[in-house]
Order: sequence, then structure tokens, then C-alpha cells
Amino acid sequence: MKEKILVTGGAGYIGSHTVVELQNAGYEVIVIDNLSNSNAGVIDGIERITGIRPVFEKLDCNDKEGLTALLEKNKGIKGIIHFAASKAVGESVQKPLLYYRNNLVSLINLLELMPEHGVENIVFSSSCTVYGQPDILPVDENAPIKPALSPYGNTKQINEEIIRDAVYANPAVKSIILRYFNPIGAHPSVEIGELPNGVPQNLIPFLTQTAIGIREQLSVFGSDYDTTDGSCIRDYINVVDLAKAHVIAVERMLRKKSDKDVEIFNLGTGRGLSVLELIHTFEKATGVKVNYKIVGRREGDIEKVWANPDYANNVLGWKSKETVEDTLLSAWKWQLKLREKGIM
Ligand code: UD1
Repeated sequence: MKEKILVTGGAGYIGSHTVVELQNAGYEVIVIDNLSNSNAGVIDGIERITGIRPVFEKLDCNDKEGLTALLEKNKGIKGIIHFAASKAVGESVQKPLLYYRNNLVSLINLLELMPEHGVENIVFSSSCTVYGQPDILPVDENAPIKPALSPYGNTKQINEEIIRDAVYANPAVKSIILRYFNPIGAHPSVEIGELPNGVPQNLIPFLTQTAIGIREQLSVFGSDYDTTDGSCIRDYINVVDLAKAHVIAVERMLRKKSDKDVEIFNLGTGRGLSVLELIHTFEKATGVKVNYKIVGRREGDIEKVWANPDYANNVLGWKSKETVEDTLLSAWKWQLKLREKGIM
């Protein structure tokens, strides 16, 4: 019998790519999502790739009664991957309480319900945002946690602490915390990809929407940072590579490959690229020009951050594989597909 994994936020960008990889690895996947920044059509895309339709329920993780009913209906869940969260940094500054409620209560609900329903393992989506501006680059998992620059970032930090405390109090529950750098790109089948509702806040969807003419111009935030060309540096990681790390993390917990109750891994490539380098790489990979303008800094941006992925490479046994060129090409093909289907 297939082992069951519950994926919260499984209709979202990283979640949907992870559902595909879990199904490919032989897991039975149950997806819940409140569809606040996604749509149910994503489930069709997953089915077209894998030939398997995951169980899907529209459910908000803040709805504890709904979660309880779900866990009762789907007995024997071996692990949870918890993606569901609000993630727009700017919005979190405007609506902090919404972010604290959405991102904290959902995790607390899951951690409370797990022991009651015999679920022992949880993978948590964290972020390199917990490092703030690191003193040493590339940044490894032992770098100090810096005061968060936004309520969003704070929710990731607090959630990591909640997990540590909850697992300490109840050693039957284990967790792997994955700190993502900047996930980009789309599935090579072009059936799923990044599709934010409204005006994109993140660089790649804004860039591809500008390249195709939906947006007039991409603003490059800042030209006076202490970097080679003055724009910010990030570690852009292919979303399918990232998704595969979740399958490895689940396997690690289910097969009890570690004696630690909580483990933390950076998921990045180890390579930093500036915003301008990324735009130029996109132009070269796709042959499409991007209309961009350099403007002032965006509030709350970190100057430069990229991963030291050695621990994930050596201990988790995961390594990013795709090139940034191919990844950007996949993002562009996805944008073209959205046009073809009349979605955007
Ligand atoms: C941030 C968080 C990350 C979080 C993500 C969710 C950090 C280091 N990272 O990523 O944890 O998961 O938000 O939304 O805090 N840019 C432009 N023009 C644009 C958009 C972005 O120049 O229109 C630049 C930004 O200034 C930044 C880079 O592109 O330098 C990437 O930005 P974005 O895609 O928004 O991700 P982060 O802010 O790095």
C-alpha cells in the first residue's frame, strides 16, 4: 500500500511541484489548499503530468475542525509537508495580524493534531529570510538568526521556534525544516508553474509578464547596493530541484535515517546572481528583450544572500541540478503557455 502524505498548500507554486515528485516517488498524496493564491485547475495540471489525481480538499489550515475531519477521513497519514502560508513581504507589513494568524495558527493546529492522529513527521517550508543580511557568505545553517525585517519573515522565525519547542515536548513528532532561497522556473511539462493572483510581487513572474507585454516595465529595485553591479544578489533555485528535496526529506524521516528530532537544511544552489545578471541571462536564454528600468531600493530588501548548500548536499544527499538558463527558459515557456491557454 502506498504511504500517505498530506501536503498543505499543495495547489500553490512549490507545493504543486512537490506533489508531482511525491507521486512520481510512489506516495499517495492528499492536498489541502484554501486557494487564496492558487486555483483548483492546478490539480488538473498535476494529473496531466503524473496520470494520478491527488485527493484534493479546499481547506484552510486555520480551520481546526476541518483539519480534524480531514485527518479522520484519511487515516494513516505518515507525514505532512506544510507549505500553506501567506508569503508577500510587502503585504505582511500592511497586514501583520493577518500574517501572524495565517502563518502561526495553521502550524499550531497541525502540531496539535499530529499526535492525536498518529502523524509523526512534518516538513516545514522556511526561508533564507531568517538569516537577514548574513555576515558571512555563502550562508550556512549555523549562521545566526537576525531580527526579521518583515512580519512575514518573523512568522518563519517564530514557526521554526514553535517546531523546536513542540518537538522537544513531544519526541514522537519529528521535523525537517527546509530554508529555501529563491525558487524559480516551471515544470518541464509546462503543465504547472508560478501563477500568482494579481500583480506579481516576485521578480520572475513580473519579469516574464513584462517580457510578454502584460506589464509595461520591470522595475529593478536599487542600483547602489554593495554588489558588482549595484543590484541585489540572490540564489535562484529551480523549483523542480527544490521539490525533489522534499521527497528526500520525507524519505529521511519515514525511514528514520537520522537520530535528530529536528533538522534544518538550506536549499539553494550556492551561486549568487544579481538582478541585472538574471535579466540578462533571461534575455540570452530566451532571445526576448525585457523592458526594465532601474529605480530606488525596495523597503526591506536584503542586499545579498546565497546559500552554502554543503550540508544539504552531504547529509540530505540532495543537490540542485538545473542550470539557471534552462530554469529561466522553463519560466518563459510557462508564461507562453498561459497566453496560449488565454489565462494571462
Ligand atoms: C523574499 C524573501 C523570501 C520569500 C519571498 C516571498 C528574503 C531574502 N527573501 O524573497 O524568503 O520567500 O520574498 O515572496 O527576504 N526585484 C526587482 N523587481 C521586482 C521584484 C523583485 O528588482 O519587480 C528584486 C528584489 O529587489 C530582489 C530580487 O529581485 O533583489 C528577488 O525578489 P523577490 O522575487 O521578490 O524575492 P525576495 O525578496 O528575494
